[in-house]
Amino acid sequence: MNSPDKQKVVGAAPAGASDRDSAARAVQEMFTSIAPRYDLLNHVLSFNVDRLWWWQTARRFDGILRRPGARVLDLCCGTGDMTFALRRRARHPDVQILGADFSHAMLQRAAQKANGSGHGTKTLRWVEADALRLPFPDGQFDLVTSAFGFRNLADYDAGLREIARVLRRGGECGILDFGEPRGLMGKVYRVYFKKVLPAIGTLISGVKGPYAYLPASVERFPAPEELVARMKQAGFGEASWTPYTMGIAGVYWGKKGG
Ligand SMILES: C[S@@+](CC[C@H](N)C(=O)[O-])C[C@H]1O[C@@H](n2cnc3c(N)ncnc32)[C@H](O)[C@@H]1O
Repeated sequence: MNSPDKQKVVGAAPAGASDRDSAARAVQEMFTSIAPRYDLLNHVLSFNVDRLWWWQTARRFDGILRRPGARVLDLCCGTGDMTFALRRRARHPDVQILGADFSHAMLQRAAQKANGSGHGTKTLRWVEADALRLPFPDGQFDLVTSAFGFRNLADYDAGLREIARVLRRGGECGILDFGEPRGLMGKVYRVYFKKVLPAIGTLISGVKGPYAYLPASVERFPAPEELVARMKQAGFGEASWTPYTMGIAGVYWGKKGG
């Protein structure tokens, strides 16, 4: 996991992508292609544990979410489940929560779900934007989250710098993503993640690439200690990683330095 090659990983590299722009385009097309079945697949393939991870991540930021007027950005929001988890924990209706993603199809589903669920359009906003070029001024947000999206960025350091840029001093970020559990549990999990999950994902979505890309992208992703070090380099004075469900997932937490 900590090989020198892995430490040099710049960002996601879907099959066939040769540079940052083609990697981003491939990721965008991939999520657009699976948008109609994305939620179903998420819940089936994670045995619904994804709901627990979103809730755990949102709960971690209760201190910010219960502050009147807090500004929150959920990056790579996809169909919005992390965004909704944040909304549910925010006590004040004037807490502003924005979901941003560069796949129009994923955002459309997020907006439909918001309308149908009573979250309404008044308390949530959706923005079509690239996480590496956010259309916000510096120091705009108290909290930036990203669930299972950050790993797909074409440049992790640029992504971290962009998150730090839009956070105010003392603002926090929470990046929820998959990890690689160790020991016996890790061995069993790897069989599921590399063999069973891609087969079921391909069957239900009818699209081959994305569910082979998922385990490959997790394998390539920097180890927790490496990413924590890169967060500190990007401007987070404090940073840490907390494993969830024996390390199958985990949250990277960071606080922008003064
Ligand atoms: C695995 S989905 C996660 C969606 C949601 N956060 C969740 O937890 O279900 C990853 C999302 O990240 C988005 N994404 C990937 N790279 C992005 C980028 N550079 N800018 C904006 N969105 C991006 C994709 O379009 C996709 O909707």
